Amino acid sequence: MVFAIPKPVLVTGGAGYIGSHVCKALAEAGAQPVCLDTLEKGHDWAVRWGALERGDVGDAAFIDEVFRRHRPRVVIHLAGYIEVGESVAQPERYLHNNAAKSRILIEAAVRNRVEAFVFSSTCAVYGLPQSERLSEEHDIAPINPYAASKASVERALDAAATRGLRSASLRYFNATGADAEGEIGEAHDPETHLLPLAVDAALGLREPLVVHGCDYPTPDGSCVRDFVHVTDLADAHLRAVRWLLHRNSLVGCHQAFNLGSGTGYSVREVIAAIGRIAGQPVPHNSGPRRPGDSPQLVGCITKAQRELDWLPSRGLETQIEDTLRWRRSMQR
Ligand SMILES: NC(=O)c1ccc[n+]([C@@H]2O[C@H](COP(=O)([O-])OP(=O)(O)OC[C@H]3O[C@@H](n4cnc5c(N)ncnc54)[C@H](O)[C@@H]3O)[C@@H](O)[C@H]2O)c1
Repeated sequence: MVFAIPKPVLVTGGAGYIGSHVCKALAEAGAQPVCLDTLEKGHDWAVRWGALERGDVGDAAFIDEVFRRHRPRVVIHLAGYIEVGESVAQPERYLHNNAAKSRILIEAAVRNRVEAFVFSSTCAVYGLPQSERLSEEHDIAPINPYAASKASVERALDAAATRGLRSASLRYFNATGADAEGEIGEAHDPETHLLPLAVDAALGLREPLVVHGCDYPTPDGSCVRDFVHVTDLADAHLRAVRWLLHRNSLVGCHQAFNLGSGTGYSVREVIAAIGRIAGQPVPHNSGPRRPGDSPQLVGCITKAQRELDWLPSRGLETQIEDTLRWRRSMQR
């Protein structure tokens, strides 16, 4: 029997790419998402499965009002800025929006006795990999301000656990793909992620892709990444909520889980696969390395498999097909 998730669920960043897929998955599971988002980066068209509370996670009075109105027992916190390059140029902006503001939300969650708090972290917290596959035991050693802001929230959740909060930090690898029904998908501006950029280049919708760094110590010199379908990611959030709610202990806890596929693909391999599936090559040029990029980030996902009973089922081919369909539909 699948355990019901108590309603409503507060989803910060629910108007964004991953958050909107989480809201859809919650609604399909009979839970009731309430989306909290500034819409600075998200879209009102992506809020389709529950109320929108438009505002900032850093606005304490607004957060109190949202808690008073909806009384959520579960919080899924995805709100944040996401661009590594921008974080290198404007570190304070990232530490403020992602780290300082998250602490305000965490305080509200502790005060309001939230029973499960799930946080969008990133594999970037590991920094330069010391092993082929990164497990949750790997050192936390961020090499850019974006990742440092996420590591800081994880530490805040460690501290909140001593005050009773049960939380999970989900360290995503690279989210890709789109909703199979074509209702939502990735729509960042600027777009910085590989799959949409490469697919758009193949479709002639933008300039040739730049491969950032061709001299990394990887088999073909380009960066190696681990790609996970956004629908599989959304499903993992629901599993993490149920896992936290099912813990019989009264004390708090904070656990981290890698969410990836466990398989690495180089940028050049992805470009070749898109060319094959789209039936059109991806025009691309070689460019310099980007500051803050690790040569290889591939996850070991056995902890999520064991504890959350989660295993991603949509591989690179499905991710590319769904991205292609979504990017084509965005043109209509
Ligand atoms: N996309 C990925 O591959 C990836 C990988 C690792 C981690 N993450 C994390 O997952 C989360 C979601 O990523 P995404 O790709 O959906 O990004 P996104 O930009 O599409 O969504 C983030 C949403 O948060 C909102 N937001 C930002 N700051 C806010 C604030 N202070 N208050 C309220 N709303 C705010 C934005 O308006 C946006 O709708 C982010 O926290 C990101 O760091 C994403």
